[in-house]
Amino acid sequence: MKAWGGRFEKETAAVMDDFHSSIHFDCRLAEEDIRGSIAHARMLGDCGIIGVDEAGQLIRGLQTILERVRAGAVSWDPKAEDIHMNVEKLLVAEVGEVGKKLHTARSRNDQVALDTRLYLRREIYHLQGLIGELIEILLERAEAEQATILPGYTHLQRAQPVLLGHHLLAYFEMFRRDYQRLDDCLKRTVLSPLGCGALAGTGFPIDRDRVARELGLAGVTGNSLDGVSDRDFAAEFIFDASLVMMHLSRCCEELVLWSSMEFQFVEMDDAYSTGSSIMPQKKNPDVAELVRGKTGRVYGDLMAILTMMKGLPLAYNKDMQEDKEALFDAVDTVVGSLSIFNPMVKTLRFNRDRMLAATRDGFLNATDLADYLAAKGLPFREAHAVVGRLVQYGIKHGKRLEDLSLEEFKEASELIAADIYETLDMTRVVKVRNSAGGTAPEQVREQLERARAWFATL
Ligand code: ARG
Repeated sequence: MKAWGGRFEKETAAVMDDFHSSIHFDCRLAEEDIRGSIAHARMLGDCGIIGVDEAGQLIRGLQTILERVRAGAVSWDPKAEDIHMNVEKLLVAEVGEVGKKLHTARSRNDQVALDTRLYLRREIYHLQGLIGELIEILLERAEAEQATILPGYTHLQRAQPVLLGHHLLAYFEMFRRDYQRLDDCLKRTVLSPLGCGALAGTGFPIDRDRVARELGLAGVTGNSLDGVSDRDFAAEFIFDASLVMMHLSRCCEELVLWSSMEFQFVEMDDAYSTGSSIMPQKKNPDVAELVRGKTGRVYGDLMAILTMMKGLPLAYNKDMQEDKEALFDAVDTVVGSLSIFNPMVKTLRFNRDRMLAATRDGFLNATDLADYLAAKGLPFREAHAVVGRLVQYGIKHGKRLEDLSLEEFKEASELIAADIYETLDMTRVVKVRNSAGGTAPEQVREQLERARAWFATL
């Protein structure tokens, strides 16, 4: 007989049990469910709602079950629907009739909301740990590449040279924002909904704050209807995870390009590459491609939870059981992706010579020639046109700007003098971009210092 079977005359159909049972995925919440129940049982005893000795029996029984869960010695019963009913069933088997008192002043609606929040808190810390690890790798690699020059691109066309350290620090900024977004998500996650009951609260003299404190939560949710039906924290987390994936995916896209024969800017370590079953010469950047591909899954999870919630009247609706697989999949995907992305980036080899050589073709110093003329008083728009003509001339004659003779320069503009050649030198082109946050070595060093100072506060 079902725990709620009292008002029913018939058994549920077997197909119904299969359809609405969630134990095959929410068993992941076992530890949180038991911890929440221990805190609840203690509060029931301390508030005189059940006997203190009864609370003691419940707590000891739950602790035994927790140990068995940890040891992998529990098998879940699909007939008992979900993790909450399963734990209760195990408890009654363990401690007898008193086990049936645990659910006093509680509903599965506030219980599941609590479990999900406790689970998410754990996973936010886990994810932040992995992002922190990635940030450390990026900072180390940026430190070592402060003198490496490569083409910077816009529209995937060579634009202006930048330092590789600068490029890597751009990713640092993205992942720092991700880390901070998770901090923010955490604030709204670490609140206890326990005590909201099914939807309206409870008539028992419970102490919600006490439960929250025991669980290390920052406080309690403010409105019982909202407390049981709020999944904002989960949607917010999946959005945050989506942005982490987007950042990983953009980096992966660059690594796929950079490891191609056309670029040859990087080589992946063998340990994070794969070969072809037919073409013996192949070395494929599968990890980067897979992470890029998995990004879509997490976006799908975000759409799933947002769509699931959008039509729900207050308060709890069974639709909300669908939040978990989306949330778990987002967690697994982002955690799994970072776990392999981190060592892949750590072991990448940068081909500094190829990067520098690539800055030679494509007129990456054309802006500097225009700036040179503008500094001599020519309005920038006119300077731009002069240099445009010189670039066109260079393309026609197969010459770089620095290959042009002073006579050829003078023909384009009398303002150009012999000092133009140092202006066009790539090292100088990088060095002059000394505006705050720019690519000049001095700026990159400062960015790195600020990044390290922030990292040290974590
Ligand atoms: N398994 C359910 C879920 O994940 C737990 C809450 C069920 N509450 C209820 N009244 N049926 O949402």
